[in-house]
Amino acid sequence: MAGKWFETVAVAQRRAQQRLPKSVYGALIAGSEKGLSSKDNLDSFDQLGFAPHIAGLCRDRNLSTTVMGQSVSMPVIISPTGVQAVHPDGEVAVARAAASRGVAMGLSSFASRSIEDVTAVNRQVFFQMYWSGDRDTMIERLRRAETAGAKGIILTLDWTFSNGRDWGSPWIPEKIDLKAVVKLAPEVLARPQWLWSFAKTGHLPDLTTPNMAPIGTKPPTFFGAYYEWMQSTLPSWDDVAWLRAQWPGPFMVKGVSRVDDARRVVDLGASALSVSNHGGNNLDGTPAPIRSLPAIVDAVGDQIEVLLDGGVRRGSDVVKALALGARAVMIGRAYLWGLAANGQAGVENVLDVLRGGIESTMLGLGRANIDELSRDDVIAPADFYRSMGS
Ligand SMILES: Cc1cc2nc3c(=O)[nH]c(=O)nc-3n(C[C@H](O)[C@H](O)[C@H](O)COP(=O)(O)O)c2cc1C
Repeated sequence: MAGKWFETVAVAQRRAQQRLPKSVYGALIAGSEKGLSSKDNLDSFDQLGFAPHIAGLCRDRNLSTTVMGQSVSMPVIISPTGVQAVHPDGEVAVARAAASRGVAMGLSSFASRSIEDVTAVNRQVFFQMYWSGDRDTMIERLRRAETAGAKGIILTLDWTFSNGRDWGSPWIPEKIDLKAVVKLAPEVLARPQWLWSFAKTGHLPDLTTPNMAPIGTKPPTFFGAYYEWMQSTLPSWDDVAWLRAQWPGPFMVKGVSRVDDARRVVDLGASALSVSNHGGNNLDGTPAPIRSLPAIVDAVGDQIEVLLDGGVRRGSDVVKALALGARAVMIGRAYLWGLAANGQAGVENVLDVLRGGIESTMLGLGRANIDELSRDDVIAPADFYRSMGS
């Protein structure tokens, strides 16, 4: 619908805020503790500038690349998020949008839709796992993902179970029962469009995690799955190497901040890593990934695909990350705002906004191909970069 088109991700976020119940919006804002990392993820991109040319520019530009063996139309991937209750079609809408724009998708193990539903509409899906459950359970999940046609695994390792936020955490019910309905009624009734989008399907959000249980069994609730994860042993590097060895195809480790960890990820035979602080939702005070990216690229960029996620809201942010050495970026909240604002079309809109921004930034920089982007294209203030564990 033309009237629902938005011109930037910031506009999509405002629409999402108007449309979603306060708790659901708050769950997407997320962040942890004082919000230092989530703020730095955005501020750091703003601190980087460009030095554009004005003539001798390139009319045709090539944005395509490959990530973990998948050809993608631009260097942007959907980062895995548990998109519980944002939209009735949830991850299926995201997967359709990504497929229509030639973009690969990471599917969270905490997703609200099954991997089978998602791979049915997008053949370029990477299944994301946490270190949760025992080895047999994890192998079962890997095999299920393989059978469903997942093209790779994303193992997310940066999580510290921190649960406090200075601005207050949203209340999220275990399940939508009478008690939850009564408690949430005031904020839900204030968002009739959101309520209607679910009512039309005949289902309320069920807040379960179908990928955390074998097919045909009752899926745990989000909190049930979270509890399993909290109770699980913490992995050693040998454990991570073991899991990597169980998957024959491409394998990414997500959540790397330090050079020494990046080297270990290379040593265990991963195909890719994402420099990430979990969108600022993890250990607060971890620097924005764009600050630590160059040191990691310098150390391991010739041995492994280095991606970045955290704070990407514009095409120019994508170009900044590529200029500093990322092969591609992964986006989280940007597509969640689009999904909340306008379902599948909203996610397509976000991807189009990013593509347009990449195009115009490359035009200004006089680059025809994303491979030509280099650190010379970006101006960084003194003391911008962080190199940890080198
Ligand atoms: C609401 C929300 C849920 C998330 N859930 C997951 C998840 O289930 N698995 C995961 O690996 N990362 C998860 N993330 C982190 C994202 O994959 C990604 O690292 C982060 O959103 C990137 O930052 P951005 O939101 O600024 O783009 C989540 C992030 C948000 C905001």
